[in-house]
Amino acid sequence: MKIERSGATDTLNLKKLSKRLEGYTRMERCVMAMNVFIHIVAWSCPAIKVGSDTKLQSTNSPDIGYIAVDTSAHYIRVKELGRHQCSQHTILSRRMAYDEPYWLGRASAEQQRLIKQHYTWTKSIGYLLHPSIASALPSNAQIADVGTGTGIWLSELSKTSPSTHQFFGYDISDAQFLPSSSLPSNVTLSLGDFKKPFPSELHGKFDVVNIRLIIISMGPGIWESTLRHVVQLLKPGGTIIWTEGNFFVARGFRGSDPASTPGHALTKGQMQLNSRLTKRFGYNWPPNGWRALFEEAGLEKVEEDVLSTDRLPELRRDFTEIGIGAVFGALGNMAGAGEEEGFWSAGEVGEKRKEAVDDMESGAYLRWDIHVSVGSVKGNA
Ligand SMILES: C[S@@+](CC[C@H](N)C(=O)[O-])C[C@H]1O[C@@H](n2cnc3c(N)ncnc32)[C@H](O)[C@@H]1O
Repeated sequence: MKIERSGATDTLNLKKLSKRLEGYTRMERCVMAMNVFIHIVAWSCPAIKVGSDTKLQSTNSPDIGYIAVDTSAHYIRVKELGRHQCSQHTILSRRMAYDEPYWLGRASAEQQRLIKQHYTWTKSIGYLLHPSIASALPSNAQIADVGTGTGIWLSELSKTSPSTHQFFGYDISDAQFLPSSSLPSNVTLSLGDFKKPFPSELHGKFDVVNIRLIIISMGPGIWESTLRHVVQLLKPGGTIIWTEGNFFVARGFRGSDPASTPGHALTKGQMQLNSRLTKRFGYNWPPNGWRALFEEAGLEKVEEDVLSTDRLPELRRDFTEIGIGAVFGALGNMAGAGEEEGFWSAGEVGEKRKEAVDDMESGAYLRWDIHVSVGSVKGNA
């Protein structure tokens, strides 16, 4: 964690700072939060600008100071232009999405859930590669999958693609990678972090970059910075395809069987996870939608498909099972990690999970929207 001042730079160790914050009571933290607010108002009066790139800055006068919270650059900048000081801990009490743990975990049950999820999502969406991309690929196409998980998307795509195509998967952890012996010979899986720029030797290398279901790691500014890092991987004319579930609209529904429950436990579990993640680090959906996200990143030929997970009635139960696995798996992992107010204990998670499974067994189902967005970098492929 860096605090930059005009002229000089102080470097602070984030771990030490977190330790320092641990010593504060809830009330003290509230006071710190109020301090930040008062500082900002004092600095910016009469105007504060909150930029879509997560920078919060006051710009109305050169002598009132400047505060920028730049989550994409992984540091906080405080530039003092005049008489105002900013106390460090007031700002640092804010948790950033980039240092948030990966709450789904990487147990073997989660790996199995990801495999099932792949087949269910693909069947419901109707394609692996967006139809606008598949027909335009060169014979030596280079295809990447970022946040690849098991590598199943690449592995399955390679089976239906020309053998001259090359496939590369990147993930921050190799814990869920399918064994290399089970992968087609033109598929390679490696470590890579989408929250940082990729190594320069990968820049401009790919015709297609796929991203699917990394929303649990996203928060304010992280959508934009991740997209910037991914766009750097593309050749001129190359295309990104990003598939996400909008779990903010997810809820349980009564099934068609008269014995079905209304699905309230399914709704409750999903809402609990959404609110905990939002409270912790600002977990969100692209605030201005996918078209704006892509166009602001300079992408062209932007298209977005939206479908509902209950589109094929025969998949409703599968989607519900996958959803229960993710929701209660993440809530269980969070229960082990924190004492924050409003969190469910491990015992509560177990009980609520059982109620949600009972909902599913009765015929009720969990439903959400899936968005598939594509956009291309300027130039000819
Ligand atoms: C829900 S899984 C989805 C996996 C795969 N995209 C799929 O659809 O089957 C999310 C994946 O993102 C990976 N991930 C989380 N943070 C990451 C980061 N900063 N860089 C790269 N991968 C990351 C996780 O390790 C996990 O494998």
